[in-house]
Amino acid sequence: MRMEIDLTLNDDDVTFEAARSDTLLDVLRDNGYTGAKRGCDTGDCGFCTVIVDGEPVKSCIRPISQLDGADVETIENLGTQDDLGPVQSAFVDNAALQCGFCIPGMIMRSKVLLSENPNPDEAEIREALSENLCRCTGYEKIIDAVQDASTRMTGEADVAADGGRVPGDGACSGCDCFEGGVDE
Ligand code: FES
Ligand code: FES
Repeated sequence: MRMEIDLTLNDDDVTFEAARSDTLLDVLRDNGYTGAKRGCDTGDCGFCTVIVDGEPVKSCIRPISQLDGADVETIENLGTQDDLGPVQSAFVDNAALQCGFCIPGMIMRSKVLLSENPNPDEAEIREALSENLCRCTGYEKIIDAVQDASTRMTGEADVAADGGRVPGDGACSGCDCFEGGVDE
């Protein structure tokens, strides 16, 4: 049996047709929002994490039938390839990804963390991301990326137009990459 579902999705009002048994992840991916990944499909890996009414939600286990009128944000709302959001650019600049399959969920979960707690310590980051699994990175660079995103978003470090740090902020003392080394 089909139903219509109204959502605010990435700040737009949308109406999707869905099966009553569909999950939010089914509906997102069926309608082209493929940033949220399908990993376990059982609520265990966090790859499918999106934000619903301000809370991180594993979309693979959230029935769409419960979400009429909900406010949903996916990673497609954070930035573009040429204009990444601050959490995205922090993950890229800290090399916090390998295959990347876990990263949309990591970033969306991190976004909620940073909105609730702009200066999380390492333990708080690890706790927040404890339900987001990564089989590649060993997590250390992910923690670094979230800490870096926190610094950028609280204005404690300048951010270059490409999302990286700007010359002279002391972030790169071990090389001369801002002294012309890589650009010449
Ligand atoms: S795909 Fe949703 S938690 Fe794994
Ligand atoms: S980067 Fe591969 S699963 Fe996390």
